Order: sequence, then C-alpha cells, then structure tokens
Amino acid sequence: MQKPITVAIAGCGSRGKDTYAPLAERFPDKMKIVAAADIDPAKVEDVKNRYNVPAENCFASAEEMLAQPKLADVMFICTMDKQHVRQAIPALRLGYDLVLEKPISPDLDECREIIRVANECGRKVIVCHVLRYTPFYNKFKELLDSGVIGEIVNVNAFENVGYWHQAHSFVRGNWRNDQETSPMILQKSCHDMDILLWLTGKKLKSVSSYGNTYLFRADKAPEGSALRCQDCKVRENCPFDAEKIYITNKATGVAHGHNGWPCDVVTLHPTEESIREALKTGPYGRCVYHCDNNVVDHQIINMEMEDGSTINFTMCAFTAKGGRYTRVMGTLGDIIADMEHNTIQINRFGEEPELIDVSKLTDDFAGHGGGDSRMVEEFFDHLLTGEAPSIRTTSLERSIESHFAALAAEKSRKEGGRVVELSEIRG
Ligand SMILES: NC(=O)c1ccc[n+]([C@@H]2O[C@H](COP(=O)([O-])OP(=O)(O)OC[C@H]3O[C@@H](n4cnc5c(N)ncnc54)[C@H](O)[C@@H]3O)[C@@H](O)[C@H]2O)c1
Repeated sequence: MQKPITVAIAGCGSRGKDTYAPLAERFPDKMKIVAAADIDPAKVEDVKNRYNVPAENCFASAEEMLAQPKLADVMFICTMDKQHVRQAIPALRLGYDLVLEKPISPDLDECREIIRVANECGRKVIVCHVLRYTPFYNKFKELLDSGVIGEIVNVNAFENVGYWHQAHSFVRGNWRNDQETSPMILQKSCHDMDILLWLTGKKLKSVSSYGNTYLFRADKAPEGSALRCQDCKVRENCPFDAEKIYITNKATGVAHGHNGWPCDVVTLHPTEESIREALKTGPYGRCVYHCDNNVVDHQIINMEMEDGSTINFTMCAFTAKGGRYTRVMGTLGDIIADMEHNTIQINRFGEEPELIDVSKLTDDFAGHGGGDSRMVEEFFDHLLTGEAPSIRTTSLERSIESHFAALAAEKSRKEGGRVVELSEIRG
C-alpha cells in the first residue's frame, strides 16, 4: 500500500482547518496531517485533537514551525495574503512542496521571487485557483475548446459577490483594507482573471478599470445608525445587520443550522449565544457604515487581448446571491454559463439552444463547486505517481498572469481608468 503524503498546515483558519484539513479524512490513503501552526492556540488544538497530530509538532506560528527541520512532504500555506511568500520561501528552502493559497502576494516582486526560489529549489507549488478544478468550468472549457461556438470574440463576465459576503469579508472582515491585505480585485477576482485567461486561452494586452466604495462609508450611514448594530435604531430595515447575517438569515444564520462559514469566522464554535457574545465586541458586530474598510464594493474591467478580442468583467457587492455568470460570444454562436444554477446553454447560430445541466454530470459539488478537493487530490496524485501534472494545474507561472491582470486593473482604477498595457506590469 502506498504511504500517504504527509502535510504540515501553516494557518489553521477557514482554509487550513475547515477546508483542507478534512480532506485527510476524505482520502486517508493519500493525505496525513503531521504538523500544524497558528497564532490562535484554540485552532491548533482543534486540529491536533481531530487528526491526532503529535503535540511536539504543534506550533504557535508558521515561523516557529519553519524554524524546525522539514516535518512533512507538503506544507499548506493558508495564512493571510501578505504573509504567504515570507513563509513559502523558507518552506521551499527546507524542501517542502507547497499548496499555496491565493493570492500569491499583492506585491509582484514577491510573486517573481517565489517563482525564482521554487525553480532554484526544484520544488512543486500549486496555487489554489480552485475554479479550474470544478466540473462546471471543466465542462465549459471542454465546450469552448471543441470549437462549438467558433472563435471567441468577446466575453461578458460577472462575479456576483453577494451583499452579505461583501459585508462579512470586505467591510467588517479580513479583506476590508488593502493596506493590511490585497486590493479586492486581486483578492476576490484573481480567480476570475485566472479562469477567464484559462477558458479563452488568450493573452492579455491592456486593461482599463473603474470602481470605488459606493456604499460602505460613513457619509452613507442612515440616520439613527450607530457604531455597532446592537445600538442601531434602524437595524430592522438594514439587510447588513449583523444579527440577520449570522443568526436569523435562512441561508447563513446559526439559528437555521449554519455553523460553518461565515459563522465560524465570527466565533470558533458557533451557537446563537456565542455569536451574540462575539457580535457585542468583535469586528463582525460593527456597523457597515462605520468600519475601517477602504476596498471597493464594485469594479469593472475592460480587457483587450493580444489577438484583438475583448473581455468585459464586473465584480459587484450588490447582488442578492453570490456566483459567477459568464457569456462567451464566438463567431459561430454564444454560450451562457451560470454557475449559481449549474447550467451551460449553447446557442449555435441558426440552431436550437442546447442546455446542459452540470449538476447531472457529478454529485460532488462540495467546496467551491467541487474544486477544493479535486485540486488537492490531483496534486497529491501527481506527487505520488510522478505522472505529469494535468493542463489545468495552477503552477506559479500560470497563476502570476492572473495577478498581472488584477494588479494592472487596480493601477488603472487608481489612475482614473487610464489604459494600462500589460507590458508595464509584467516587467
Ligand atoms: N482559494 C480560495 O478560493 C480561497 C478562499 C478563501 C480564502 N482564500 C485565501 O486563504 C488565505 C486564508 O484565508 P482564510 O479565510 O482561511 O482566513 P483565516 O483568517 O480564517 O485564516 C488565516 C489563519 O492564519 C492564522 N495566522 C496568522 N498569522 C499566522 C502566523 N504567523 N502563523 C500561523 N498562522 C497564522 C490566523 O490566526 C488564521 O487562523 C487567504 O490568503 C485567502 O485569500 C482562498
């Protein structure tokens, strides 16, 4: 019997502990957790107990874990955006292969540096662009590559962030301020940039972009609002009210049995009582009009590709639900791909439309439409068998193009929509 790949987890948060660690139970013959680190001891304790990690391999930070000799085959880097490269480089030098959370880094020099070091050390790194591994996008890619709509001329793509997801992550939460983390167009939409480049197989030439923080700022606060939802006089009419999102909302609230994300970000073990307690003093009980956020709540990008085709992309907070919606227009027809409903409609010119229900193609859509587990399993299979990685593998070299695109858009947005040539960014 093959020996499983041993894993060290740096950052036992939503991704490290709740998304990737459970895969050790899903495919125990391929993955075994042998070390874990987080600055929050309660999270490390949870991982230690659930996966029987030896106490001597539990650490109070990734840095402390990296001060030890190599402990595992692969390190999962699941800390915050600006920490990734500073932890990944020493890990590569120690001989770890890496599962590296996106974005690689908001700093392009750091992105280039990690590519250099990974090559120098001969290590394997996969960047977590999980959409590439979903049955939905694989079907979509297969159709486009088959030529069913001819040559791609134009793409219209939407990333519907969802009003409560924006409030949770980009107003009150981890990614609210680009000084601490990344600009939102990189943080949220490096996935979109990656998938659009992959789907079309094209290279980006130039971009222009607009966007701002339209709503979530103090001058838009309604009369009667307060610094925290608990003191607000108009909370009944506010969809962003923290109690609604984390307790009473049917789709997200703990009162309806949702004790995973986003509730377990508010408090480690969510119950109605523990959420109420956390909302009293913690960041997630703050009024959305009175946070220290500076990232956009809507942004558009116009992209010109090297072959003259064009892509238009909108990321927007103000949608009832999340999900991605893409229309690709080709010389022989168009395709409408709706990830929220798991459908792909092919409209060949002069022919009857064909509707594909992707939900019928597989029954495993857990975790980013089934992408999280497929990505890790495929990477581990590659490490175990030595077989060549598949064409969808998100290597550092492939991932960096999505970072170029997002950061070029951010530069354009900050410069009033100036056309930014990718040659300025790629260096
Ligand atoms: N691939 C995806 O689709 C996807 C989805 C969500 C988040 N992410 C990315 O994953 C990363 C983590 O996001 P998350 O949602 O898990 O955030 P999180 O806050 O839940 O987890 C980050 C963890 O890192 C810990 N940490 C901070 N400093 C540390 C240190 N020095 N050593 C060890 N641990 C430390 C924190 O205590 C926290 O538990 C982010 O970069 C984010 O962009 C990717």
